[in-house]
Amino acid sequence: MDPARTAVVTRHGSRERTVREPGVERYWSRFALSYNQDGEYVVGRAILNLIADHLAAEASWGEAIEFGCGTGYFTQAVAPKATHVLATDLSDEMLTVARKELRPFPNVTVQKADCTASGFPDARFDCVLVANLLHVLAEPERCLAESHRILRDGGILVAVDLTSFGMKTCDMVRLGLRYLRCWGLPPRQGQDAMAPDDLAGLARRAGFNVETVDLLEAGSNALYMRGVKCAKQPST
Ligand SMILES: C[S@@+](CC[C@H](N)C(=O)[O-])C[C@H]1O[C@@H](n2cnc3c(N)ncnc32)[C@H](O)[C@@H]1O
Repeated sequence: MDPARTAVVTRHGSRERTVREPGVERYWSRFALSYNQDGEYVVGRAILNLIADHLAAEASWGEAIEFGCGTGYFTQAVAPKATHVLATDLSDEMLTVARKELRPFPNVTVQKADCTASGFPDARFDCVLVANLLHVLAEPERCLAESHRILRDGGILVAVDLTSFGMKTCDMVRLGLRYLRCWGLPPRQGQDAMAPDDLAGLARRAGFNVETVDLLEAGSNALYMRGVKCAKQPST
């Protein structure tokens, strides 16, 4: 039996969903070498530049960790304002590319880690970045809970996610065709039309005060959210 096709049932919000486990990192591993080039073709350079500009405009990243760094595309926007960035991913193939791409940044370390069970100590980091990760996970709640655990009180979570929310149908179809041409069918467990309220709700339930959640539009769309770790878990 192919383990990637083993069906498990998981709880996502109030709905029961059947997903394929494991597989997200295995799916992306196949595209590591061409990921940056393909990504620019699929979603367009304009939205990627806009996301990078927003990341670079954050005041400070301090001691930061990035989950699901992929090839380190967005790590490069964070590094100049960080004391140190621990760029992590589950895919060895992605990490190999990231090590090469991030060589010019002496304050970046590349390391393998699972965003749902990283093993880092509690309250270890000032900032967590998750870029284009939550929407590909079957249980994004687990990644957010882990982010909350490893952040100090008052620490910052920045979550960026490409989304088809708010896009015109014709643009969505074109994007979908470009995606299929490059990467084939995506793993079924992801959520490709996350709305600002969906992302903010996920973060609030994980114990973050959501400061901002913006819809960035530049050919393709993306959500950009900044949340602050509350000292205590909210009661509801
Ligand atoms: C869509 S790519 C995004 C890469 C990068 N953040 C970017 O925006 O260019 C998703 C990445 O998440 C990684 N990933 C998937 N599941 C993961 C997990 N449980 N823990 C850490 N990384 C994971 C994949 O290997 C892949 O590199």
